[in-house]
Amino acid sequence: MSEIKFPLKGRDRDELLKEMDGFRKNDPAWREGKAWSLVYRASGDHNDFLKKAHGLYFSENGLNPMAFKSLKKFEHETVRMSLDLLNGDSNSVGVMTSGGTESLLLAVKTYRDLFRTKKKRSKQPEMIIPRSAHVAFHKAAHYFDIKLIFAPLDDQYRVDIKKVKKLINKNTMLLVGSAPSYPFGAIDPIEDLAKLALKQDIPLHVDACLGGFILPFIEKLGTELPTWDFRVPGVSSISADVHKYGYAAKGASVILYRSMKTMKHQFFVQESWPGGIFASPGILGTRPGGNIAAAWAALNVIGEEGYLEYTKSVMANTNKMKEGVQAMPELEILGSPLTSVFAYKSVDSSVNVFAVADFMEERNWFIDRQQHPECLHAMVNPLHEEEGIIDKYLTDLREAIDWVKQNQNKAFEGSAAMYGMVANVPLKGMIKKQVLGMMEEMYGPESKDMSFSAEKKADLSEKLGKAYLKAKKIITSK
Ligand SMILES: Cc1ncc(COP(=O)(O)O)c(C=O)c1O
Repeated sequence: MSEIKFPLKGRDRDELLKEMDGFRKNDPAWREGKAWSLVYRASGDHNDFLKKAHGLYFSENGLNPMAFKSLKKFEHETVRMSLDLLNGDSNSVGVMTSGGTESLLLAVKTYRDLFRTKKKRSKQPEMIIPRSAHVAFHKAAHYFDIKLIFAPLDDQYRVDIKKVKKLINKNTMLLVGSAPSYPFGAIDPIEDLAKLALKQDIPLHVDACLGGFILPFIEKLGTELPTWDFRVPGVSSISADVHKYGYAAKGASVILYRSMKTMKHQFFVQESWPGGIFASPGILGTRPGGNIAAAWAALNVIGEEGYLEYTKSVMANTNKMKEGVQAMPELEILGSPLTSVFAYKSVDSSVNVFAVADFMEERNWFIDRQQHPECLHAMVNPLHEEEGIIDKYLTDLREAIDWVKQNQNKAFEGSAAMYGMVANVPLKGMIKKQVLGMMEEMYGPESKDMSFSAEKKADLSEKLGKAYLKAKKIITSK
């Protein structure tokens, strides 16, 4: 039985706040610029303003678009501003959502329902996504019963357009491209995908959750980029997260469509519910007013000039970091990323990148480990402009590599072994089962902490090290 009981008496507010603040001590140290994902934050006192804007509409609810006219105005104008930035026209439309995942789930649901209206409709619609497309598409396929078809990547980690062409059939309800992809920061060849989409009369969704509020400013600063937004005929919809490089409060994204003819398939209406006639634009019921208001406030308080300044700083730090990584002979950046997101792998057999990540974690850096290929991820935001952060990262990275070279057994211990196993073991079902088991423990009555404590590392190192070696043997003996 859990020790946590419903509190009998309310507690002192100050005491609670102090206690809550203390709980941060084991969190990623993003305030010190040590996190390379999860937190996107404008520098300076922007967030103090954002909290005030959010607080003004803290209690309001965007569920019923007819109730709060204020929220409807914020939503409408946030959508119009986003469409202006991404070159929509007077027919383009959109809605605000709670984040990138909701935007992508909605896009997939919309195209499924549109597909169902077609005469020669298939019972099993399919969507073709690049291997690097965000995992939210996998979730959408799972939720909405869509067959997921993966298109392989080219040597620049963009989707291979020739392969996409071959995968299209009469069941294809959607093509997808990313601008850029989360794992590698590569921009898929949207113009080529769009040509294919137009020719085959299939919609194309561009996932710009990451790039929507930074790519336009990189371009305005003079870097030549492939065109990927509504300027490209054949792009039918775009998702862009205001809570990423738009520097809004978390819980804000937009899903934009070239026309209402498509977006109308997103809406849900239930006219016979005893609670009244119900109409909803997205997945959520209650929609927090604060997130909608803060997104509008962020776009207005920063403006194009402000975003250009942030983008200049972010890109200068990205380039500095990329140059530092490239200068290390053991590492290689994957493809030719043009934004603030990139990944690097080891090209030296004595350097296991997951062991490098473990070393970096000991120094409090929070870095995503990736697979296919095994690599580490970096995403720069304005907080990284603080003096010395990039230099410190690069110095620690150099030390990490040297240490791993001298301690090669570390690749078979702790989290390096686990990630190594996940990336290599052909028995995917076994891994899924293990992860599901972890989820059950994490969300079970005792809510077990799944971070790697010293004892857990020691315990895991033995089990996983053995499993990893066994798996390697299976692979090599095949
Ligand atoms: C390209 C891309 N699409 C979608 C998402 C999902 O966004 P969210 O985490 O807001 O649901 C992300 C998140 O990083 C992303 O990078």
